Amino acid sequence: MRTLLVTGAAGFIGSNFVRMLLDRGEQVKLVAFDKLTYAGNLANLSDLLKRHPDKLVFVRGDICDAKAVEAVWDQQGVTEVVHFAAESHVDRSILGSGPFVQANAVGTQVLLDVAKAKGVEKFLYVSTDEVYGTLPEDRPEIKFTEETPLQPNSPYSASKAAGDCLVRSYFHTFHLPVLTTRCSNNYGPYHFPEKLIPLFVTNLMEGKKVPLYGDGKNIRDWLYVEDHCDAIWTVLNRGRFGEVYNVGGNNEITNLVITETLIREMGRKWDDCVTYVKDRPGHDRRYAIDASKIENELGWSPKYRFEEAIKTTIQWYRDNESWWRAIKSGEYLKYYESQYGGR
Ligand code: NAD
Ligand code: DAU
Repeated sequence: MRTLLVTGAAGFIGSNFVRMLLDRGEQVKLVAFDKLTYAGNLANLSDLLKRHPDKLVFVRGDICDAKAVEAVWDQQGVTEVVHFAAESHVDRSILGSGPFVQANAVGTQVLLDVAKAKGVEKFLYVSTDEVYGTLPEDRPEIKFTEETPLQPNSPYSASKAAGDCLVRSYFHTFHLPVLTTRCSNNYGPYHFPEKLIPLFVTNLMEGKKVPLYGDGKNIRDWLYVEDHCDAIWTVLNRGRFGEVYNVGGNNEITNLVITETLIREMGRKWDDCVTYVKDRPGHDRRYAIDASKIENELGWSPKYRFEEAIKTTIQWYRDNESWWRAIKSGEYLKYYESQYGGR
C-alpha cells in the first residue's frame, strides 16, 4: 500500500488534495502532517477523518523537527512525500521573513534529509510560479516556462526558491526521486481569508470594503484548486524524477477585473465597496504560466472554467459562513489591523 506523507495537509491546497484523493477512492493511505500554524485548520479535515478512519490519519508536527518527522515516518510506514507545508502569504513575509526561511527553506531541508535516510520512493515539492519573479504586462507573448531563471522578489518567494534549489540538489547529488511543481494562483473552498479572493468575498459578505493594492492592474493566472491538486497527483504518478512541471490555468486576470467580478456576483456596487490602499512593497506585476510541458508530456489540462468555478467558490463561502467567521475573529484580527490599519 502506498502511504503518502502530506505535509501542510490542514491548509488550503493540502486539505483539498487529501479530499480529492479520498473522494476519488484512490488506493492510498494518507498521513496528514501539519504544525497547525494560524493557517492550518483541523476543521478542513474533520469530516474526512470521521468518514475515512482507515485511510486518513492526522499527526500534528513541525517539518523542521527531524525527530518528529522520523517518528511519523516509522509509525505510519511512509513511502512517498507530497510537500505542501509552508508559510504562504507574501504580505506576512514582508512584515517578517524569519518564519518563512525557517518553514520553507529549513523545513524542506529537514524533510529531504529524513526522506533520504528512509529511502523515500517519491518526493514531490509543491512550489510556486512566484520563484520566477515578474513578467512585463506589455509583452503578453512571454510566459514562465520551466527554463525561466529563478528571480524571486519577495521574502516568501525567495524562501520557496531556496526549497526548489535544495530539492534540485538532492536529485543531482543523492539521486533522490524528486519532482517539483510550480503553480499559479489558486482559488476555491477552504482558502484562508487573508488572500485576495476569500478576503474580498468575505469582506463583501460582511458589508465591509475591499482593499485594492496600488492601481489594481497586477495580473495573476488563476486556477481552480482541484485542477492544481489533479496536476500534483498526475505528476506524482507519471512525472519524471528530477523534472519541474509548471501548472497554470491560461487565465490571466487583473485584480481590478477579479474585484469587479466578485462585486457583481455579490450584488454590490463598486463605489460602495472598494478602497485603494498603499501598494505591496516589491509587488510583482504579472504572472503567466506556460503549462505546455505537463499538458504534452503527462496529458494534464485544467477542467474548470473560471466563470463557473468562481461562482461555486462564492457559493461555498455563503454555505460555510461559520468556517470563515471563526477564522476572522480572534488572532487573525491582529494581523488585519497591522496590515491594513483602520481601513
Ligand atoms: P496555506 O498557508 O493555506 O497552508 C499551509 C499549511 O502548512 C498550513 O496548514 C500550516 O499549518 C502548514 N505549515 C506551515 N509551517 C509548517 C511547518 N513548519 N510544519 C508543518 N506544517 C506547517 O498554504 P496553501 O495556499 O495551501 O499553499 C500550500 C503550498 O502550495 C505552499 O507550499 C505554497 O507555497 C504552494 N502554492 C500555493 C499557491 C496558492 O495559490 N495558494 C499556488 C502555488 C503554490
Ligand atoms: O502565484 C502563486 C502564489 O499565489 C502562491 O505561491 C502564494 O502562496 C499565494 O498566496 C498567491 O500569492 P499572491 O501574492 O499572488 O496572492 P494574494 O492573494 O496575496 O494576492 C493576489 C493579488 O491581489 C496580488 O496582486 C496582491 C493583490 N491584493 C492582495 C490582497 C491580500 C490586493 O490588491 N489586496 C489585498 O488585500
